[in-house]
Amino acid sequence: MSSNTTDNYKLWENRYNTPGRTPRAPEPFVVESLPFMQRGKLLDVACGEGRHALYLAAADPQFEVLGLDRSPTAIKTAQKRANLMRLSAQFAVLDLEEEPLPPGPFQTIVVTRYWQEDLCPKLVERLAPGGCLVYESYTLDYLRYGERTCSHLLRSGQLRESFQSLGLIVDFYAEVDRPQTREYSARLRAHAHL
Ligand SMILES: C[S@@+](CC[C@H](N)C(=O)[O-])C[C@H]1O[C@@H](n2cnc3c(N)ncnc32)[C@H](O)[C@@H]1O
Repeated sequence: MSSNTTDNYKLWENRYNTPGRTPRAPEPFVVESLPFMQRGKLLDVACGEGRHALYLAAADPQFEVLGLDRSPTAIKTAQKRANLMRLSAQFAVLDLEEEPLPPGPFQTIVVTRYWQEDLCPKLVERLAPGGCLVYESYTLDYLRYGERTCSHLLRSGQLRESFQSLGLIVDFYAEVDRPQTREYSARLRAHAHL
């Protein structure tokens, strides 16, 4: 691991180890996208403590949910919450920069607040024919609300261009300013050809 990667890993481990953390609500865009998601295997990429994986598993038992994240602490919390909620969602530790994605294919893939450019073709490969991708992540405009690591931020239009150029059909795209939570993100919903 490079020192940047190690720092990022530690940052998330420390955050997830902070006592008294409570489950966070799902992103409104994920909730809005529920009717468009194909039922079947669902992958939540860089799922953190599983707020979307758990929400979706509870919303419809037809989702067979798998959440992946590099943080063992987050994955342990997510799996514990799934068990308490009696949900069949599964979680696993995986470093997306170092390890391959599980084979799939997945009918739906969800990614929020995580950007890794070279992951895009791998996500498209794992999407089932007609499968749905729901993606939301921060753009460079987020910098107006404070300091961030630029390599994790999207250029304007980049999210749409990345998946369009890989052959997905874009059903929805928007860049959204949320001053109340001091966030600026791009939202994409797209599907694979049948
Ligand atoms: C901003 S959080 C988003 C978590 C979740 N998607 C959400 O919206 O609540 C970013 C997540 O990416 C994970 N992460 C960072 N680098 C990773 C990597 N190389 N492989 C897998 N997960 C990684 C972190 O552990 C963290 O949980």
